[in-house]
Amino acid sequence: MTDNQWSEVDRYLDALLVRPDAALNAALTASAEAGLPSIAVAANQGKLLHLLAQALGARSILEIGTLGGYSAIWLARALPPDGRLITLELERKHAEVARQNLERAGVSERVDIRLGRALDTLPQLAAESRGPFDLIFIDADKTSIPDYFVWALRLSRPGTLIIVDNVVRKGAVADPDSTDPNVQGVRRFNELVAREPRVSATVIQTVGSKGHDGLAFLLVRD
Ligand code: SAH
Ligand code: DHB
Ligand code: MG
Repeated sequence: MTDNQWSEVDRYLDALLVRPDAALNAALTASAEAGLPSIAVAANQGKLLHLLAQALGARSILEIGTLGGYSAIWLARALPPDGRLITLELERKHAEVARQNLERAGVSERVDIRLGRALDTLPQLAAESRGPFDLIFIDADKTSIPDYFVWALRLSRPGTLIIVDNVVRKGAVADPDSTDPNVQGVRRFNELVAREPRVSATVIQTVGSKGHDGLAFLLVRD
């Protein structure tokens, strides 16, 4: 199958099961108009995040990598009115576009966007005694995934679900000789997870409108 067919299948399935949504579409349009890269999760992946958050009964969610707030809208919509999503973003412009998109989606009261390098804002969250979070979604720079995993564990409790995007990288993750720092980051992360007794994990390859990539799911053990 080609990327084209994968996208066609996504369109077919989304038309039946995900459905157009004004606020989510507006978020993508506004993000594109502001010049943000089109690297948000796919609609069906956003809905997966939403369903998992709902299934967990999540009341507190942490996201690392906001971009224009597309995945944040999906996650925030799964929260009860008094629930909270904290989302971390490096780029001021991305955070500003996200603020507007979250406002338009009517979820801004549940979302706290923290501007800065995640490796600076994560220790701040810990210092503020934020967490433990029910769900943590890691989707920022790929070289720091191992560090984000360590922070995610610190901000977790038994039962926390940690999800990591972009862990297959068109299959390059299986290449031990890859010189791509993103691939090396993902491989170091996988090795950390493999020897971490506090989590039980799996990785699922995905194809679709985002090409060939994958999502990691880690459950923090009791
Ligand atoms: N989760 C978003 C997509 C995030 S794209 C969605 O699916 O809608 C990755 C984002 O991480 C970009 O906005 C990028 O600016 C941000 N980012 C990159 N490095 C970062 C860092 N060190 N700290 C925080 N955010 C970072
Ligand atoms: C990139 C980042 C992502 O989070 C993603 O889902 C796809 C691509 C990137 O930086 O290229
Ligand atoms: Mg991603």
